[in-house]
Amino acid sequence: MKSSKKHLVTAALPYANGPIHIGHIAGCYLPADIYVRYLRLRGEDVKFICGSDEHGVAITIKAKKEGITPQQVVDKYHHLMKSSFDEFGISFDVYSRTSSDLHKETAGEFFKNLYDKGVFSEKETEQYYDEEAKQFLADRYITGTCPNCKNENAYGDQCESCGTSLNPTDLINPKSALSGAKPVLKKTKNWFLPLDELSPKIRQYIEQHKDDWKPNVYGQCKSWLDAGDGLQPRSMTRDLDWGVPVPVEGADGKVLYVWFDAPLGYITATKELLGDGWEDYWKDKDTQLIQFIGKDNIVFHCIIFPSILMEHGDMVLPTQVPANEFLNLEGGKISTSRNWAVWLHEYLEDFKDQQDVLRYALCASMPETKDNDFTWKEFQTKNNSELVAILGNFVNRILVLTQKYNGLNLPSNVEISEGDRSILNQLPTLIEKVEKSIENYKFRDALSDLMNIARLGNKYLADEEPWKIIKTDEKRAHSILYVAAQIGAALSIVSEPLLPHTAQKLKSFFNTAPLTWEDAKKPIILEEGHSIEKPSLLFSKIEDEAIQAQLDKLEKTKSENEKDMETNAEVTPAKENITYDDFVKLDIRVGTILEAERVPKTDKLLKFLVDTGIDQRTIISGIAEHFAPEDVIGQQVSVLVNLEPRKMRGIESAGMILMAEDADGKLVFAQPSTKVTNGSIIA
Ligand code: 2FM
Ligand code: ZN
Repeated sequence: MKSSKKHLVTAALPYANGPIHIGHIAGCYLPADIYVRYLRLRGEDVKFICGSDEHGVAITIKAKKEGITPQQVVDKYHHLMKSSFDEFGISFDVYSRTSSDLHKETAGEFFKNLYDKGVFSEKETEQYYDEEAKQFLADRYITGTCPNCKNENAYGDQCESCGTSLNPTDLINPKSALSGAKPVLKKTKNWFLPLDELSPKIRQYIEQHKDDWKPNVYGQCKSWLDAGDGLQPRSMTRDLDWGVPVPVEGADGKVLYVWFDAPLGYITATKELLGDGWEDYWKDKDTQLIQFIGKDNIVFHCIIFPSILMEHGDMVLPTQVPANEFLNLEGGKISTSRNWAVWLHEYLEDFKDQQDVLRYALCASMPETKDNDFTWKEFQTKNNSELVAILGNFVNRILVLTQKYNGLNLPSNVEISEGDRSILNQLPTLIEKVEKSIENYKFRDALSDLMNIARLGNKYLADEEPWKIIKTDEKRAHSILYVAAQIGAALSIVSEPLLPHTAQKLKSFFNTAPLTWEDAKKPIILEEGHSIEKPSLLFSKIEDEAIQAQLDKLEKTKSENEKDMETNAEVTPAKENITYDDFVKLDIRVGTILEAERVPKTDKLLKFLVDTGIDQRTIISGIAEHFAPEDVIGQQVSVLVNLEPRKMRGIESAGMILMAEDADGKLVFAQPSTKVTNGSIIA
């Protein structure tokens, strides 16, 4: 597919507030790296861009917790992430960072450009302010009681107990997390990107990609655009002291919104790589801008960033945004705060020089169309039954037998049979399958297409049995090994995007000069008599003990988390006594869920239609991460029916579905043990 186009391939800038884990890799960095390595091999003009996202409130909170400065936090994680990406073989052309001066300049100039054009609307809003700490409070810095479930430790943007997304002013008894003081509302001016006004342009852009973006990406964009209240203006500035200062008058003490500044980090990184040459890529309308991200970043890359680029003008817009879903670990959601993760830097230490085993296992279970699960058992099986037994075995047989029969040279005077030719003739088609899969962002398919080439070679050797033939027909045995070596050489090229460390070893075993992707399709890649290297093992078996050690590590995390929960449970005192009269005020009924659907633009909210016996009513509940809508229809549940109705995301919710939460944070319905009439009173 050699084209004359330039390719800018970006991978989401990871937050520098923790190390990289396998969820990040499978979701974004591995697919991006496979794609880029493939383009390079095809001789395409490609730049692979990434860096650390070093702003945002999460980083200031981490710094506060650890008693260090935000700069110290980002320095630590920037270097850790950079070196583990490097060792793992994620082949960025540049790995930049957003706390650099160059980035401040880039992001500041972009803001100023839009500001001077009058793109932003200036709005005064009331925000919580901490009079003791003398600063405005980011949503995460305000805690209080959730109006929905009465959890007393809800954050200003969300209650982590019931999942409801909140505004700080929704909280009952708000408290500043900085000083503990009761915050006061104070007027502040911020600059908003009028997404409502830009909506028709954005819609037009998204519609252009109806057929070439992944359905999950296009679908999510549509649901934002089509939501009842449509796109809403979003503030591009924040009252915070960590970030890029807002470069206009009257903006003292304000910084750019992290989702304004972070995507511009892609441009900063390109500048770091190419100097003024950055414009040749970002301003060429034919540049393919391909942005690899996880699904939680879709709105920012498909709606907000393109809006910024469009309003700036003269810039290429994302051509493709191949977002992946999420990877789970041993059935549980990966979580940095609960330490439920496989950290890349720890893997690299525990499994020295086995980068490609993890690449293989993560690619095989890449969450391309739906969330997927990583298990250590599966990791072991993938290594032992596929990498060792198929690919490793094939290559090892060629090299060991060749060396045994012919020293460190491929045989000469070979005779290629009809059958051999038909094997070799299958290669171009198999290689084209790998190509098509990668070009269509189907990396799991690409991996199995690649293994099919190794399978073909393995089967060829098993069928032809050169180790037996050698006893009766030396020339034939040599010819078989010569043919097999051509398949091995093809693999040394085609495996490069997916398994670069393995490809490197194969190239040195087969002693090949730099070869291109097209070379892999030639029937004969290695000449007769070509010298090879002394073989060593490509992959080695992973024993049960190594897997058990990883499972033990996770088990330890689990029990620590449980202990934490128990401790927390012990320190959370029972609520104050209430009178019987208080209790009878609660009207709790049995109802049946008739309909359930996700609330657009939210990760956590489900909208239910419930038959309460009294009426059919809409109830919103923050449990979307625990239940699929289709699984809950028809279930009987307990409903607090006389809770004052409340609007959430523009939808009125009348009542609350009661839930029980187990020690793992798993939610289950509090429901009658046998079916009863809807409207039955629970008392
Ligand atoms: O979700 C995240 O980890 C963000 N730091 C991704 C930012 S991508 C880009 F916009 F910089
Ligand atoms: Zn709540």
